Amino acid sequence: MKSFTIRRAKTSDVRSIRDLVRPLAEDRVLLEKEAVAYYENLQEFFVAEDSDGNVIGCGGLHVMWEDIAEVRTLATNTDWRGHGVGHRLLQKLLLEARELGVSRVFCLTFEVDFFLRNGFSVMAEQSAVDPEVYSELLRSTDEGVAEFLDLARVKPNTLGNTRMITHF
Ligand SMILES: CC(C)(COP(=O)(O)OP(=O)(O)OC[C@H]1O[C@@H](n2cnc3c(N)ncnc32)[C@H](O)[C@@H]1OP(=O)(O)O)[C@@H](O)C(=O)NCCC(=O)NCCS
Repeated sequence: MKSFTIRRAKTSDVRSIRDLVRPLAEDRVLLEKEAVAYYENLQEFFVAEDSDGNVIGCGGLHVMWEDIAEVRTLATNTDWRGHGVGHRLLQKLLLEARELGVSRVFCLTFEVDFFLRNGFSVMAEQSAVDPEVYSELLRSTDEGVAEFLDLARVKPNTLGNTRMITHF
């Protein structure tokens, strides 16, 4: 069995994270970000590393409000898919969410079966927040938050994605 470890991301991982994300962003599976955004949001990220120290997966947890965060940029190198990398990364992000005091984690994804198997369910209602929080979140400049709110301007990016959520 191939072995790997999960750890917090370092600045030196940004290049590898971007290499993982680029082809998925080209296929519109993930949202591409500017390099500076990866450095600025580095503390949100965990990576999976193989025994030679290569980054083979990544994932981020973006806190949006007191009780809610989003799993974003979860990706496993194609050579490593189906070995539990995504599962372990997601477990780490959910643990992080608990430690930060969040009780709900959202994701917007094409990988519905994977998230179902990892405790998420498809959102019954489109909106997960009350109108007051919704109006506060509208002040965010973050594209992922705009996607969470399902704003018209980002709809072309989210076409075909499923909105999913897990509660602790
Ligand atoms: C979603 C994604 C991260 C999953 O990564 P992964 O590393 O292949 O995930 P896992 O290996 O944990 O699980 C994949 C499958 O392998 C199987 N598996 C899990 N652990 C395993 C193990 N130790 N050995 C063999 N198979 C295993 C699981 O049954 C799972 O099946 P499922 O996908 O039908 O649920 C990956 O498909 C990906 O990068 N997708 C593109 C980006 C994306 O859409 N991200 C989500 C939105 S942020």
